[in-house]
This record gives sequence, C-alpha cells and structure tokens, in this order.
Amino acid sequence: MSLVLGHRGASAYAPDNTRAAFELAVKQGADGVETDIHLTKDGIPVIQHNYEIDRNSNGHGNVEEMTFEELRTLDFGSWKGEEFKGEKILSLDECLEIADRSMRLINLELKQAQKVDSLIVEKTIEAVKKHKMVDRVLLSSFDYHLLQKARSLCPEMLIGGLYDEAEVDQTDIYDILKDAPAYIAAQGFDFANPHINYLCEEGIVERFTQHGLGVAVWTVDKPYIAQLCAQRGVKCIITNKPDIISKAVREVCD
Ligand code: G3P
Ligand code: MG
Repeated sequence: MSLVLGHRGASAYAPDNTRAAFELAVKQGADGVETDIHLTKDGIPVIQHNYEIDRNSNGHGNVEEMTFEELRTLDFGSWKGEEFKGEKILSLDECLEIADRSMRLINLELKQAQKVDSLIVEKTIEAVKKHKMVDRVLLSSFDYHLLQKARSLCPEMLIGGLYDEAEVDQTDIYDILKDAPAYIAAQGFDFANPHINYLCEEGIVERFTQHGLGVAVWTVDKPYIAQLCAQRGVKCIITNKPDIISKAVREVCD
C-alpha cells in the first residue's frame, strides 16, 4: 500500500507549509505531509519552503536572517486568500505536534542552509526525538552531506536522497543520474526521492527495490500517474492535491 503525502500540505488549496494546509491534507485523506525546514537566525527550525519570505508572507527578507519572534509577527496566509489571513509560520515543534496526532508519516525536507552548517540536522533530530516520532519520520534533502550527518546522529531514522536535475545546487546530480539506484544505495540511505520525471524509465522502481531502497516520488497531481506509481510499488506519493490522489490510490490499493 502506497502512502499519500501532501506536498507542503494540501498546497493546491491552502497556503503551503501552514497549519491550514497540513490539517486540510489530513482531512482530504492524506497519510501525512512532506514539509520543508529552515533555521531562523536564532537557531529555531521553522516550516518554510523558500529562503525568502516575500512570496508567501507580508514580510520581506531571508528566513535565516530573521529571528523566530520577527517571523511570527507576519501573515503567511493572506497571499493565498482572505480566508487564510493570520496563518503564522510554524516552528518544527508545532508541526510535529500536528503530525503526532494525525499522521502516519511525515517527510521532513532539510533545505540547504546558505551558511554551510549542520546545526539544522542537530536541531531537527532533537525535535523529532522530543516528540518520540523517530519511527514516523522520513528525513530527506538534496544535500547528501546533511543526510550523512543525520545518519550518524540517528541511525534508526529513515533517510531519503532527493534528486532533480533542475536543482542547481545539487553538485552530485550527474553522478546520481548515471545510475540512481546504485548511487543512492551506496550512500546507505533507505529511500530514493526522485522528481516524477525520473520514474518514466521502464523497470526503475524494481531496480530501486533490488537495491533495498523505497521510493518516495514528487509531485504527482494526476490520478492515473499516481495509480501507476502505486501499482509499481512506489511507497510514498507526494502530491499538492491529496483529495484526488488519495482517492485514486485507494482505488488500486484496496
Ligand atoms: O521533497 C520533495 C519536494 O518538496 C522537493 O522539492 O522544492 O518542492 O521542496 P521542493
Ligand atoms: Mg520540499
């Protein structure tokens, strides 16, 4: 059975990475969510996709150059619709509280800090352990050094290597694309997390499986593609539209 995870929550319908988006994803039938983590200037892990907060808040600047208190005064909901006015940025701690009571799995994506620093790994693992959720987290990143650090600090947590040619900062992308199953297995990870474009190749999911890897694919918003992924044995299907994708996956998995 494939798990359906809301990409930044039910982000097609609610402001991404907010409480509203997470709660809606669960209500729409998702098993959990995928979400993104940055560290604030004062070292608090927060839920936010971009470095800049200009796209999705009424503030300006870089999340890593602002304190949690400063970020907390801003509105992260109105840009998506008046009904979301007043959505606040969430700390990882608050996000894990929501996950603990409503999700089977949460995929935490570590964003590459502009400062090269593994503090984000330490703080994230600390929060996950505090909530006793090590067995319900899939930790992923495009930055495999951060993932290696996580593996050494918490060997029992599931780790997934993200890859996508469009990710300009991913220095090892050419080596990954030559033979992703072998490359990611050699890192010692548990999951490969490819963009959907890389799952078109015949037999690719089976090759990941042969290398002992689960597959968590993103972003799948078309029901027939989600059904194909589920039938091929993809473990996690990450979508912006948990309503239609949960329904489609249940049709082929039940
Ligand atoms: O984790 C899958 C996906 O979220 C990676 O890309 O840019 O949407 O965080 P992005
Ligand atoms: Mg992400």
